[in-house]
Amino acid sequence: MSNVTIVGTQWGDEGKGKIVDWLSEKADLVVRFQGGNNAGHTIQIKDKIYKLSLLPSGIVRKKISVIGNGVVLDPWALKEEIASVKKKGIKVDPKILYIAENTTLVLPFYKDIDSLNESLRGKNIIGTTKRGIGPAYEDKVGRRCIRLCDLKNKKKLRIKVQSLVEYHNPRFKYHNKKLLSTKDIYNSLVKISNFINQYSYPVWKLINESMKKNKKILFEGAQGSLLDIDFGTHPFVTSSNTLSGQIYSGTGLGNSSNYVLGITKAYTTRVGSGPFPTELKNSIGEFLGKQGNEFGTVTNRKRRCGWFDAVLVNQTKILNGLNSLAITKLDVLDKLENIKICSGYRINKKIINYFPADEHSQSLIKPIYISLPGWKSSTVGIKRWDKLPAKAKKYLKTIEKLTNCKITVISTSPERNGTILLESPF
Ligand code: IMP
Repeated sequence: MSNVTIVGTQWGDEGKGKIVDWLSEKADLVVRFQGGNNAGHTIQIKDKIYKLSLLPSGIVRKKISVIGNGVVLDPWALKEEIASVKKKGIKVDPKILYIAENTTLVLPFYKDIDSLNESLRGKNIIGTTKRGIGPAYEDKVGRRCIRLCDLKNKKKLRIKVQSLVEYHNPRFKYHNKKLLSTKDIYNSLVKISNFINQYSYPVWKLINESMKKNKKILFEGAQGSLLDIDFGTHPFVTSSNTLSGQIYSGTGLGNSSNYVLGITKAYTTRVGSGPFPTELKNSIGEFLGKQGNEFGTVTNRKRRCGWFDAVLVNQTKILNGLNSLAITKLDVLDKLENIKICSGYRINKKIINYFPADEHSQSLIKPIYISLPGWKSSTVGIKRWDKLPAKAKKYLKTIEKLTNCKITVISTSPERNGTILLESPF
């Protein structure tokens, strides 16, 4: 198939970076379609580790890398990221990086709004990355944001900045915060435009023309399906649509067939607040965190850990139209005596097979588990299905059955060659 979309099927941090990097070898273009620098992708190639937030992972393989209009772009963060990959020998220029001209910019004061919003939520804090992502999407939907193309006309830019400042200042004033200055924001935008304008492009044209030429496009999702603004664990979600359908409005791709691969951790993690039915607040949770090195790439926060939740992954399989699953970090479970999988929820006396939308029902969920024996041997770096321990195969087959989705890729180490491929998405 000529298009492959990669999405996370849980709460993010499923290990998408490695799989995208591995698939990008076969791709002609790698495209981001939502999120911003709240994302963090780690790619390990031999002894070099690349931590990417905004740049599509294909940049490391020198593939055409595209940032779609569905992304909110912090140009100052991008500049820093480009400088940091440059130090590791990756050249980024307008022949390789294209940014949609209609992309919304993340302005520095959005971080202040993000922090202010969080502090006002009290005990209902979301635990955002404080990168200003939510406020940027709010201004986009409010039709007052600054877009990349606005940097081209200075007169118009000043007017837009002024009305943005007039919109936000009363709230800053109300909370006794430093007021925004049109001049400062305008000047910093003019300054950064000297760097960012070179990448501005009608990306929708590039994508559709590439499709026509039968180029292979890899759409790289950020965050995870359960953080989707509509279908995630609202309000403990990010502010963009993270599901696969977003590739269309987030890049301008016209309708076309597309293979959707759902990256899925062999257990479950989440950073930030919100419901998590299979969370383990005990020594097994600690063990998973330690063994899996579960610390956020962006904020370095400790991730919450729990058993695999087949109810949730079955739901995100349906919502994304997944063709198959790629299971990551199987080796983290290697030493466990017994491993549980959540196969259903009990709410009072009722058993349900989906995650309800309302917070009250969510708080009543009691997971129903099936227990499987652990394989208690190392799966690190295994490259063939027949080399996996029988009990590990049973675990994976049970996931397939409960999620109603076949597994085509199994990742057994952070290195790109630590991968079992059962069927290629491209
Ligand atoms: P925001 O996207 O910074 O607004 O944060 C909203 C929620 O999404 C918080 O719970 C974050 O921890 C979570 N989040 C945002 N980006 C990621 C990610 O890349 N991985 C995992 N969680 C994320």
